[in-house]
Amino acid sequence: MGLGLLASKAMRPTTRLINFQNPNNLFLRTIVSKPELRNPEPAAAQPEQPLVDLSPRTPVGGARVHFPNPDDAIEVFVDGYPVKIPKGFSVLQACEVAGVDIPRFCYHSRLSIAGNCRMCLVEVEKSPKPVASCAMPALPDCPICDQGGECDLQDQSMAFGSDRGRFTEMKRSVVDKNLGPLVKTPRVEAAMVNARIRKSVTANQAKVGYIGPATDSNYDSQHLGTGPQTLVDIAEGRHSFSKIISNAKHPVIIVGAGIFERKDQDAIFAAVETIAKQGNVVRSDWNGLNVLLLHAAQAAALDLGLVPQSENSLESAKFVYLMGADDTNLDKIPKDAFVVYQGHHGDKSVYRANVILPAAAFSEKEGIYENTEGCTQQTWPAVPTVGDSRDDWKIIRALSEVAEVRLPYDTIGGVRARLRTVAPNLVQIDEREPAALPSSLRPTFTQKVDPTPFGVAVENFYMTDAITRASKIMAQCSAMLLKK
Ligand code: FES
Repeated sequence: MGLGLLASKAMRPTTRLINFQNPNNLFLRTIVSKPELRNPEPAAAQPEQPLVDLSPRTPVGGARVHFPNPDDAIEVFVDGYPVKIPKGFSVLQACEVAGVDIPRFCYHSRLSIAGNCRMCLVEVEKSPKPVASCAMPALPDCPICDQGGECDLQDQSMAFGSDRGRFTEMKRSVVDKNLGPLVKTPRVEAAMVNARIRKSVTANQAKVGYIGPATDSNYDSQHLGTGPQTLVDIAEGRHSFSKIISNAKHPVIIVGAGIFERKDQDAIFAAVETIAKQGNVVRSDWNGLNVLLLHAAQAAALDLGLVPQSENSLESAKFVYLMGADDTNLDKIPKDAFVVYQGHHGDKSVYRANVILPAAAFSEKEGIYENTEGCTQQTWPAVPTVGDSRDDWKIIRALSEVAEVRLPYDTIGGVRARLRTVAPNLVQIDEREPAALPSSLRPTFTQKVDPTPFGVAVENFYMTDAITRASKIMAQCSAMLLKK
């Protein structure tokens, strides 16, 4: 910057050191690089300017300047007065060496530099505006950045436009590329759960058995059977895997929620419960019985008591309110039923809806989610809502007013307070609430299981909800999957 260079009247038509107060009562001091850098013509036009007083000055506070390495000394001019300072000194320190006391407020030599009170502003040669001298290093470079808004990166951004990518070419993708023995490409089922199981197999030599369609897993596992009869065999101790469960120290049973779509669901779940009991799968220090749910909101909905009143409630409905319900069997809704859809992404349910109420997506709203193991987590909006969409609770609250049954909450805090009275675990963030299924609600093993084999709960891993179904990339993945 040529702040080797503190300034002088060369920048000003006066002959005295310029010390004036700006409208904010801040002192400004003119700083230039070297006297010879001054424009010679104006200088010639003003021959009456007095010379700078070059008599020795006493540094502010009597400070002595120590040069650890004489080669690192640089020369700067403060109001035309030359001083030698070590590299790394700030402009404020250079001024002090030149005997010029710069007012300061947030600066202290023994604290880290904040540079935010702006009381120590000075003018520096070539700088378009005053700079905070406490934060500005005195270097023989251009004083562009004092972190006060003069940013050449900003200039770059202004010159070259948006920071959004302009990469429009197709990305190359390779299916099932051989990446060596350690890395494998895309799985099509519950990838996270499988990753955990695989870890248990490799780290703890866990024994894994599964019932259902044969699958190609990337860990050692035993295919026990395809249908519920295998479950019954295990429950009744006739299967070789019964012993493995009974002898396991930390047994785990994972039940796919697809069983609840079957008519013999009670019998199946009763068999699972029997196996869990015999294998001591649920005890005070260990809960190894898991149900893998199909929908993100399912666990919380059950905690809130949102369960059908009867098996045929949908078929006999006159009014259906689909709240983010994108996987409902629309064929079951009677033709004359009035349907309201509240959700986002305009999935298939909107084509059946009489009224559509656009709601915010999960990324646009503050929300509470409960995972399958009863742990509640809170999210915050990452992006603003689009168009006329609103948070779900605001839509319900507005409807209640129109319907003259005004709900007693106006803020998200009010909603949470109400939530606390219905399902307190949903507001205990990051805490796990173990499932408590009273024995009175447990299905009894009276029904016979249907020998029909279990099916696959998720046919297309890339199209499992309204968001993935609206995704172009997921559509491409899905097309590749169907081609296989
Ligand atoms: S003393 Fe506060 S910005 Fe320099």
